[in-house]
Amino acid sequence: MILVFGSINIDWVARVPSIPRPGETVLARAYETLFGGKGANQAVAAARASRGAGIEVAIAARVGSDAFGRAAVANLAANGVSAAFVSAGPEPTGCAFVVVEDSGENAITVASGANSALTAASLGHAFTAADVLVLQMEAPFAESLRTATRARAAGAQVIWNFAPAPAGFGREELLSLLAATDILVVNQHEAVAATRILGTAPESAEEAASAIADGRLTAVLSAGPRGAIAFTPDGIRHVAPALAIRPVDTTGAGDTFVGVLAAEVAQGRELPGALQRACSAASLACTKAGAQAGMPDRAELEAACSG
Ligand code: RIB
Repeated sequence: MILVFGSINIDWVARVPSIPRPGETVLARAYETLFGGKGANQAVAAARASRGAGIEVAIAARVGSDAFGRAAVANLAANGVSAAFVSAGPEPTGCAFVVVEDSGENAITVASGANSALTAASLGHAFTAADVLVLQMEAPFAESLRTATRARAAGAQVIWNFAPAPAGFGREELLSLLAATDILVVNQHEAVAATRILGTAPESAEEAASAIADGRLTAVLSAGPRGAIAFTPDGIRHVAPALAIRPVDTTGAGDTFVGVLAAEVAQGRELPGALQRACSAASLACTKAGAQAGMPDRAELEAACSG
């Protein structure tokens, strides 16, 4: 089983000519409400990429007892993700305010709501069934760490996406996260942020990811149109290119990468192949608007990787 421990959000999305600077107001013609949240996005990406492979995908998350929460849970079910470990409480369902500019780049503010009340206890002993556990940084860190430590001790491979890199995160916290992780996924900003927390000043994101990996774990740097680079703990470097696409919306591309990486690892694929598929899937995800709309299923991914 692939188990995702993380966030569920409703994304309020407006397309703008350019992302507003501080103090600036820009007008959008309209807005859409879409399904999102890094945890939910990663679970949906994993479920689509492993459809037909006999792998169960489940999410442990929390929503509000409101219409958004019910719709988000229904969307998970429609995408083949088990919501058996999704609880509902009095807090509002998490929301993300997303502006996407014409280049496809975005800026996001997340109001965590119910995600802040997610606990490791909501899983009971179900963490023992996880072959691969996937985490991000939109759920309470102490609860995520507890889940990762328990699942890893029970034999799960832990993939942790250090996104969004939290402000004020401490060195000891990061060291405990790294110690509970097999594969850390970072983008360029998160790689540099993590090494700064560790007390070093890398000259590039690649150098940062390599330093994080060194003797500890596998660190994967997702670098958008430049593809991805993985560094193993023993210093081996694997590179995977992205597909050549015209980006419509990059929202959810990183989540697609993580979810597909988890699906490939769960299917026993070696790191170079898993990295390539995750990269291709992330590229495809950028070709449609919204976090989840462009996520490929297994057949689409197969076609993109063999074409
Ligand atoms: O990574 C994209 C996601 O980040 C969005 O769906 C939004 O909900 C935020 O969590």
